[in-house]
Amino acid sequence: WPVYAPYVAAINRLKKERNAAILAHNYQTPEIFHCVADIVGDSLQLAKEATQVDAEIIVQCGVHFMAETSKLLNPDKTVLIPDMKAGCSLSESITGADVRLLRERYPGVPVVTYVNTSAEVKAETDICCTSSNAVQVVESFGVDTVLCIPDEYLAQNVAAQTDVKILTWKGHCEVHERFTAEELQAYKDADPEIEIIAHPECPVDVVEMADYTGSTAGMINYVRDQRPPKVLLVTECSMASNIQSEVPEVEFVKPCNLCPHMKRITLPKILDALCEMKEEVTVDPAIAARARRAVERMVNLKN
Ligand code: 13P
Ligand code: SF4
Repeated sequence: WPVYAPYVAAINRLKKERNAAILAHNYQTPEIFHCVADIVGDSLQLAKEATQVDAEIIVQCGVHFMAETSKLLNPDKTVLIPDMKAGCSLSESITGADVRLLRERYPGVPVVTYVNTSAEVKAETDICCTSSNAVQVVESFGVDTVLCIPDEYLAQNVAAQTDVKILTWKGHCEVHERFTAEELQAYKDADPEIEIIAHPECPVDVVEMADYTGSTAGMINYVRDQRPPKVLLVTECSMASNIQSEVPEVEFVKPCNLCPHMKRITLPKILDALCEMKEEVTVDPAIAARARRAVERMVNLKN
């Protein structure tokens, strides 16, 4: 990719000069994922890795809630995001005030919050979860009923795997909610050999059609281990691009959907972030301590 080379060289040089580390989510584009990232992973891996970073500066290549999570876990480090507008439809779907109302409505019911939420929301909750540990987190309370918010589909997919009664919220991921069982069935009808791997933010009838369901890291590991001849990754488009070079024999069948928020992060913006030390992500100290507790409880949960 000659067009990217000057940016890659400049970013990697500045990273050293500034003592910075780049944490990149699996949905970042291949030139970020392969050429400038120090750590790549799903939301849980990135949160765990954020607790181990030695560098003084973290550049979060992902969306805002991910940068906030890194800041919560590293209050003394500088956390930069190359585009402050990189948001998330799930995170936008709920506020701290909404969670307080839910607590009034369901007194005593533990509140599990997906990491795809603002620090303000995390501060109102008992513990966070990600798509890779949601069932474990929900069951960790040992009670009959748990609120699992704000992703309705994730909650329904968790409910299918546990006896705990799950109450939820009407938030959806704008990328995964667009997949339908009908379109997947059409792919299966055209070629029954295709394996379907779906992210648990997809609607329940989509997940029911899948040969495997898991977080983005789980999906990557499945493809690495199983090497299906043809696979449809029911998730964001960059996932297939990022893993293709590692498994050249696997044919990745479309469709995929783009996350416009993840795609706001580009090499020129990463370079700008490092040059000008922008844009810094901060968390209001009044909420940081409570939000940190919810994230740390999740990170410290034993497997
Ligand atoms: P995971 O990488 O944790 O599976 O999350 C997917 C996602 O949509 C992040 O925004
Ligand atoms: Fe949010 Fe969905 Fe984009 Fe992830 S893929 S950041 S959940 S909108």
